[in-house]
Amino acid sequence: MAIITVTKIREKKNIKKITMLTAYDYQISVILNEMKVDIILIGDSLGMVALGYKNTLPVTMEEMIHHTKAVARAVNYSLVIGDMPFLSYQVDTKEAIFNAGRFIKEAGATAVKLEGGEEVIDKVRAIVNAGIPVMGHIGLTPQYCCQMGGYKVQGRNDQEAKKILKDAQLLEKAGVFSLVLECIPSLLAMEITKLVSIPTIGIGAGKHCDGQVLVTNDLLGISNKKMPKFVRKYANLDKITKKAIKRFIRDVEMNSFPSEEESYQ
Ligand code: KIV
Repeated sequence: MAIITVTKIREKKNIKKITMLTAYDYQISVILNEMKVDIILIGDSLGMVALGYKNTLPVTMEEMIHHTKAVARAVNYSLVIGDMPFLSYQVDTKEAIFNAGRFIKEAGATAVKLEGGEEVIDKVRAIVNAGIPVMGHIGLTPQYCCQMGGYKVQGRNDQEAKKILKDAQLLEKAGVFSLVLECIPSLLAMEITKLVSIPTIGIGAGKHCDGQVLVTNDLLGISNKKMPKFVRKYANLDKITKKAIKRFIRDVEMNSFPSEEESYQ
């Protein structure tokens, strides 16, 4: 059992900022766990980052369970949260509980995250009532990208802002232990953070949230693709990796790898 619990996450509100990062595999999870990141999320961003899909919609329960297992094997400190993929909770309440339960029973997660507000509130309530901690996710919800017409900042007009505020309150009432706020104006995130008693964790939602989440591959600069403006690149692994691979190719071609010391006698 990990050291960080959902209770500890709740208790951090107004005391200390919460850190959350994504992971999809064992080795990155070992590092995040060692560095004592509060929450490791097996996000459905897995689809784009690790599996090469165009968006998160094709991600399946089997793929999420497979990767959550790999992450959970590495972790004994951080809270492990599995992201419920598109159509694993929207269709039917029983199916939502069953799929949320698979993250806990089969994969070793402690909680699940799912996207949406009022439209999924009965599913959230049912999963919480089954004893499974739920993290909400509102604002820009990538699983709704077809309906939203792409990936745009949400809550810039009055009507959208009111819906996001209402969703935050409904989710709190339904029992979520924390709330991801994605791509909303900083002042709206501040209002929600003050309004609810559960911690808010922002991504592209400014500095007033109770914590911050980023996709680990983005902060490490593993891809050289253009990133949204909220991503801070802490490293440029694309450049470093390419340099290393180039040296390997050169060494093999010049027959300078392996050396005598790198060979068995
Ligand atoms: O799928 C994901 O990685 C996410 C985070 C960015 C919050 O939902």
